[in-house]
Amino acid sequence: MNRIRWWLFLLFLLPTQASPKVIRGPYLQLATPNSMVIRWRTDQLCPGMVRFGLTPATATNRTSHSGELSEHVVRLSGLKPDTRYFYEVGRATNLWFTSFGVTNSFVTPPPIGPAQSTRVWVLGDSGTANRHQAAVRDAYYAWSFDRRTDLWLMLGDNAYSTGTDKQYQKAVFDMYPTMLRTSPLWPTLGNHDAGSANSPTQSGVYYDIFTLPTLGQAGGLPSGTEAYYSFDYANIHFICLDSHDTDRSPNGAMAQWLKADLESTARDWIICFFHHPPYTKGSHDSDSLTDSSGRLVQMRENIVPILEAGGVDLVLAGHSHDYERSYLISGAYGFSTNMIAANFVDHGDGRQNGTGAYQKPAGNEPHAGAVYIVAGSSGQTSGGPLNHRAMFLSLNKLGSLVLDVNGLELDATFLTDRGSIRDYFTLKKR
Ligand SMILES: [Fe+2]
Repeated sequence: MNRIRWWLFLLFLLPTQASPKVIRGPYLQLATPNSMVIRWRTDQLCPGMVRFGLTPATATNRTSHSGELSEHVVRLSGLKPDTRYFYEVGRATNLWFTSFGVTNSFVTPPPIGPAQSTRVWVLGDSGTANRHQAAVRDAYYAWSFDRRTDLWLMLGDNAYSTGTDKQYQKAVFDMYPTMLRTSPLWPTLGNHDAGSANSPTQSGVYYDIFTLPTLGQAGGLPSGTEAYYSFDYANIHFICLDSHDTDRSPNGAMAQWLKADLESTARDWIICFFHHPPYTKGSHDSDSLTDSSGRLVQMRENIVPILEAGGVDLVLAGHSHDYERSYLISGAYGFSTNMIAANFVDHGDGRQNGTGAYQKPAGNEPHAGAVYIVAGSSGQTSGGPLNHRAMFLSLNKLGSLVLDVNGLELDATFLTDRGSIRDYFTLKKR
């Protein structure tokens, strides 16, 4: 009897194989009207499978990746546009990690081209992983609770201070779990992210974490790199540039691709986003040739003329930890002191209940004016002179930017960490 007890005791001491656990995600990437990439991480190698369908009860479609992985990437294809799908990730049939619910579903983008009411959430320099970042997040969640977020952008410096995997876990995956599994995130690279990533070789943490289009999978021209890319959502053409670690010269590969991409788009709206702002007087100075090794000046002198020739409507950046929003401007490629009256296409506030919405002709007409926004206060504020002449408004306030596109009208709202609206304007085309 004693012997049996002894053997049972030894058996209890034997190491047992714990079942794998999800330690990151799931999160949505590279959304197209007919496909969605779902990613998640497990604490050990295992198979990966997604089951999905139009209702939890009929979620019987299954897609797997091959082999055993800890970084799971599964692409769902053959989806219907503008349709809600419920999904669950797991490692085999009947071994699911998550439960069905409204938080485990997404809506595929609508067909490319036709207008559709679209909400975009924009975060800049959010990656502090502190209470300020959480307050900005909570204010948006509360304000937008009754409206789905169709997609969201990160304007770089997504994880301080060197964009390591651990820092991304805290500042992105632990911070926005609900948004990550319900709405596709489209990021750009900031200087802090570049502490652990390399654009020329598309390697490192940022490039490992994100699945971004290189072949024009989501609209736009193939860029051949995840460092810069474009995609379409309904009647909007989004362009992501790499202002930090990619050649910014006027005839470099990125500039050449940008020209061709702009020429090829027939969408009603063109929104471009990158990290280093062409116009700012915040914690960075776009009049300084040495600030950020000249990147702000180079983006303004080399890239902005291409964007404006291509009919860009809105240019979003971060880097300065504040909120700065320009008038409708055009052709301002020099220092702020050299701006002339002709650069101000509309010197009003852009508000329908003020001096009126900013107006542009439809059809991506070149040099018809664009609004430039620095939205780099989603994780901290850092002050500065806040007096760039291009800006209608400059605020040292925590917050995030919300874009609502309805047909040929685009409304922008700056929402603070306390849930108050401190700026808004409207761009209209006709
Ligand atoms: Fe930065």
